[in-house]
Amino acid sequence: MNKPSTKLNQANLSEAISLRPLSFSDFIGQSKTLERLKIMVGAARQRKDALNHILISGPPGLGKTTLAHILGNEMQVHVHISSGPVIEKAADLAGLLTNLEINDILFIDEIHRIPKAVEEYLYSAMEDFRIDVMIDQGPNARSVRLSIPKFTLIGATTRVGLLTAPLRSRFTLQTRLDHYECQDLSKIVARTAQILAIQLTETGAKEIASRSRGTPRIANNLVHFVRDYASQKNNAVIDRQVASAALHLLDIDECGLDEMDKRILSTLANSFQGGPAGVHTLAVAIGEQADTLEEVHEPFLIQEGYLQRTPQGRQLTAKGWQAISMQVPQRDLQLEHPVVG
Ligand SMILES: Nc1ncnc2c1ncn2[C@@H]1O[C@H](COP(=O)(O)OP(=O)(O)O)[C@@H](O)[C@H]1O
Ligand SMILES: [Mg+2]
Repeated sequence: MNKPSTKLNQANLSEAISLRPLSFSDFIGQSKTLERLKIMVGAARQRKDALNHILISGPPGLGKTTLAHILGNEMQVHVHISSGPVIEKAADLAGLLTNLEINDILFIDEIHRIPKAVEEYLYSAMEDFRIDVMIDQGPNARSVRLSIPKFTLIGATTRVGLLTAPLRSRFTLQTRLDHYECQDLSKIVARTAQILAIQLTETGAKEIASRSRGTPRIANNLVHFVRDYASQKNNAVIDRQVASAALHLLDIDECGLDEMDKRILSTLANSFQGGPAGVHTLAVAIGEQADTLEEVHEPFLIQEGYLQRTPQGRQLTAKGWQAISMQVPQRDLQLEHPVVG
């Protein structure tokens, strides 16, 4: 690794870190989740106790990791970070748990990917703050009980449906993040621009926000690109036109749909005449797992009204046909604008 690129990486890294909201008051949107978390933090602090276990679910880039760090700051405790696939055996988990101090937070990202054999050990850790581990093998094998300081487990997952019921039920709060409304996303874009010292007009911010697929991570990436674009084109101020031209260069359409979104919509249109198509059939056709389709890609398309979930399967709406520049079939037009009279 050569020096300049290391420097650049460090600069990027510190920029990314400084964009992370650090407290509840910095965190924009997700009002329901925020209110629930504030209640729990307030009560735990009053009791001078550890926060109860929390499961945060939702599509990537919406703020799960950010919230875990905020909870650490608000509770003034350390946040220890790990992730499901890294915890391969009970000993890995034991190592993490015995390193905790009282009231600390253990954040496990992608918690649905913890091996089932390890998951069993989590149950007693979460409930009774102890873990029984086997040491040695054969005739010398024995079980040793380790007690763990009272801690908080914060689990994050994009696939809450893959969590077993016993694990899910051990979280006091299960809360889901949804895609951001354009208004909230505009505020996030404006905040990012301010931190990066970029001159961005209100309409410029709105343009970026409305093309970010409801996702703060995407919005921040677009702000970075738009900044580069403006500096290369000698635009001191980024207004709607500059933002729009930069996003056009990235092939991001007016609605901010990404490649997979487009693939889902056009597969439904071309292979299924707009649907309805069962989720498994559709998943095979686009080469994705049904769970991922349902939990990562679909929520935004449904929330924004490109797609409908019907008992017969997924169906394109008129807005969905228009998004891929196809004519809305007569049948669907009638469906959505029923003749009154
Ligand atoms: N509510 C928010 N307000 C401001 N920035 C946010 C918000 N949510 C997420 N972000 C930004 O988006 C990025 C992605 O968030 P992150 O917590 O890593 O998402 P996840 O863990 O859900 O994939 C973070 O770098 C953070 O700066
Ligand atoms: Mg994350």
